[in-house]
Amino acid sequence: MNILLIGSGGREHALAWALSRSPLLTRLLCAPGNGGIAEFATCLPLDLDDHSAVIELCRSEAIDFVVIGPEGPLVAGLGDALGAAGLKYFGPTKAAAQLEGSKGFTKDLCREFGMPTGAYGRFTNKAAARAYLAEQTGRVVVKADGLAAGKGVVVPETRAEAEAAIDACFDGAFGAAGAEVVIEAFLEGEEASFFALSDGTHVLPLATAQDHKRVGDGDTGPNTGGMGAYSPAPIMTPAMVERTMAEIVKPTIAAMAKRGTPFKGVLYAGVMIGPQGPRLVEYNARFGDPETQALLMRLKSDLLPALLAAADGTLDRMELAWSDEVALTVVMAANGYPGAYSKGSEIRGLAAAAEASDVQIFHAGTALSDGKIIATGGRVLNVSALGANVRAAQARAYAAVDRIDWPDGFCRRDIGWRAVEREQSNATHVPGTAAPFLH
Ligand code: GLY
Repeated sequence: MNILLIGSGGREHALAWALSRSPLLTRLLCAPGNGGIAEFATCLPLDLDDHSAVIELCRSEAIDFVVIGPEGPLVAGLGDALGAAGLKYFGPTKAAAQLEGSKGFTKDLCREFGMPTGAYGRFTNKAAARAYLAEQTGRVVVKADGLAAGKGVVVPETRAEAEAAIDACFDGAFGAAGAEVVIEAFLEGEEASFFALSDGTHVLPLATAQDHKRVGDGDTGPNTGGMGAYSPAPIMTPAMVERTMAEIVKPTIAAMAKRGTPFKGVLYAGVMIGPQGPRLVEYNARFGDPETQALLMRLKSDLLPALLAAADGTLDRMELAWSDEVALTVVMAANGYPGAYSKGSEIRGLAAAAEASDVQIFHAGTALSDGKIIATGGRVLNVSALGANVRAAQARAYAAVDRIDWPDGFCRRDIGWRAVEREQSNATHVPGTAAPFLH
């Protein structure tokens, strides 16, 4: 089977790594790809906004299946265009990708079908948004409605900051994505990520993860696209996973089918686990980044048949096996990220760092130039490791990080700290037992 993978980040490198191990695979192409993906796939430059060009490539390369990684092409309707051309693809249609493409859409769906989430208002002008804000007694979150590359969410500390966030959205800080603003009640609790495949009708739970969004140790400093992740998320106990499936994910899939816009692909639910149980923070209509890098380290089954089953409507016949081990991913970023950073520095020592068993280094922002790996992005490498517990996976990942020679990069040194503390307190209070994790 010839496969075209769309995307260029660490998530796509992890997908390419998993797909490359499938006995069903004949040839893997990736557009546009990156310096690490080039090890597994033929990387091709392609304008992803030009759907005709993608279709033409699929035809000329006899592509049997297209796996769409990032949200941009999904929300722009690349899947619809491929489907209309008779090509099979993994990912939701444009209508179904609204679960990520419009935060207001998802909140309205939750309200109509009863999925638990925070109270909210949707606004298309400053005055109405500010008037709603003035009525709120608790903390709020201000969000640009559309896709804003992870930057459109502000958690204000003060009323003035909330007003400034509203103004920034309507003044064009996020372009068209901020033409509508959603103001939500701040949800108390601990956030986790839950991933499930859907074929439009059936839902196959994948695994849980937690990421670290702040740039600095101790979860301090500005928000980023994610500085590290681990899977499973200890807070997602079997009971909490069951509730998330029953109260949030399954009703969402049923609601989308009922509306005539079935969701096929991977649904990534950001959930807040608080005293009342799980509540939906937001959906993404694709695999998480860097969570996928950790997730796929733990997947023992062939990924490809599961993605095909999501496209074919046969997920009810699919089972996946997961490692009981913990996977942890440390993001290495260019100095200065998430602010201004320079590109083009050489990264050395990657082969030596990847030699350790149960370590994989996924590239997020690199290019291969004259045989050298060059940093080309803000988040550049995802150093991932498996271990018997979070502490062991963390130690293995940081040992690999320390073998990488890249003076122009940095990473957080405490990825997984919350889970490590939990492990320590479990060990203290109940010697010899571990908390029951579900994948
Ligand atoms: N890790 C956050 C995201 O993928 O959106």
